[in-house]
Amino acid sequence: MPFSLPDLPYTKDALKPFLSEETFDYHHGKHHAAYVTKANNLIENTDYDGMPLEEVITRAAAQGNTGLFNNTAQHWNHSFFWNCMSPDGGGEPDGRIATLIERDFGGFKEFKEQFSQAAATLFGSGWAWLAYNAEEKLEILPLSNADTPLHHNKTALFTIDVWEHAYYIDYRNARPKFIEGFWDVVNWKWVNQQFK
Ligand SMILES: [Fe+2]
Repeated sequence: MPFSLPDLPYTKDALKPFLSEETFDYHHGKHHAAYVTKANNLIENTDYDGMPLEEVITRAAAQGNTGLFNNTAQHWNHSFFWNCMSPDGGGEPDGRIATLIERDFGGFKEFKEQFSQAAATLFGSGWAWLAYNAEEKLEILPLSNADTPLHHNKTALFTIDVWEHAYYIDYRNARPKFIEGFWDVVNWKWVNQQFK
């Protein structure tokens, strides 16, 4: 069963003014779709055929199959990313994530500054993640290219895509502006659902 492009969890105009429909046309409709197509082409008629996505990602990494890792990890990362945003999102976190941010960063303001800084200064293409590690602590994890917390045995809580394709249509080269706007749409409900 080949992988398929998931529908966005909202309409393409739902996150305006943070992101335009045109950004979703390209980012979801072309970039994410291309990762899915390439992953399926690489998997067809191999031992990976029929394996769950997470297993393909970890096996491809272990076997040094970079092309397959990149395309499947990007499929997973993007599918996760769309859910990290919501037209009802933004504001201060609540529930378990609020308690943990307070405990591990000393407050939401401090966390927001550190996360924004990590996302803004990540060199080249990649993703800034908030992850939950084996020591049961929150961790800001800037990862390059297609790299993903799955590969580091950490639970992903939320992420921002800082590849240029994520913001260039709406913000040109101003990555910090894009990061600033992200806080208005963070889906804290989704974040709280990621604790296993
Ligand atoms: Fe992307």
